[in-house]
Amino acid sequence: MARFKVRELRSTDVDGLLAFEVRNREWFESQIDARDPAFYSVQGVGEHIEEYLCGLAQGAWHPFVIEDADERIVGRANLKSINPAQGVAQVGYRVDQQLCGQGLATLALKHLIQQAQVRWQLRQLVAYVFKENIGSRKVLDRCGFLLEEPAANQPAQSEYCLVLAL
Ligand SMILES: CC(C)(COP(=O)(O)OP(=O)(O)OC[C@H]1O[C@@H](n2cnc3c(N)ncnc32)[C@H](O)[C@@H]1OP(=O)(O)O)[C@@H](O)C(=O)NCCC(=O)NCCS
Repeated sequence: MARFKVRELRSTDVDGLLAFEVRNREWFESQIDARDPAFYSVQGVGEHIEEYLCGLAQGAWHPFVIEDADERIVGRANLKSINPAQGVAQVGYRVDQQLCGQGLATLALKHLIQQAQVRWQLRQLVAYVFKENIGSRKVLDRCGFLLEEPAANQPAQSEYCLVLAL
């Protein structure tokens, strides 16, 4: 695991992030909602990074990447919709298909939890995961997230909501 590290997203990550997202596009689209096709270009990823870094400056987002020993981007993890008043944020992550099953998402989620506590002083993290996404459920369970039971009168959802009290 020492071969990998989690660091903040940078404005200079355009080429590395584009390569990562293009390499894994089919894989991600089989697991989670597809991105706008315009995203898959230097301009699209450049705007995406700019938007995330603006979100960081405003205290609404905290974006990270996972890097291998050659400084190649092999995963991403984000604190999203940070709400300091309520002390809550959402988590999201994705890992290069070739490197799945080696604990990278778990490494990244632990980093998000630590940042949520230390940097943002949050009280709760929330995750939404498609019911059939067994791998992501496993990562969340391992990091202590608990299933939020839907209200009795709510219609059936395609996603689970899981919550971690910090
Ligand atoms: C979900 C995802 C992030 C997991 O990344 P990862 O680096 O493989 O995660 P980890 O290695 O930390 O842990 C995954 C665990 O789930 C297990 N797993 C993965 N798919 C599984 C499946 N279909 N059935 C059973 N177990 C599964 C792995 O074996 C591993 O468990 P183990 O450590 O006990 O062997 C990765 O598959 C991914 O990027 N998927 C596409 C994007 C996505 O779904 N993001 C999450 C949105 S909520």
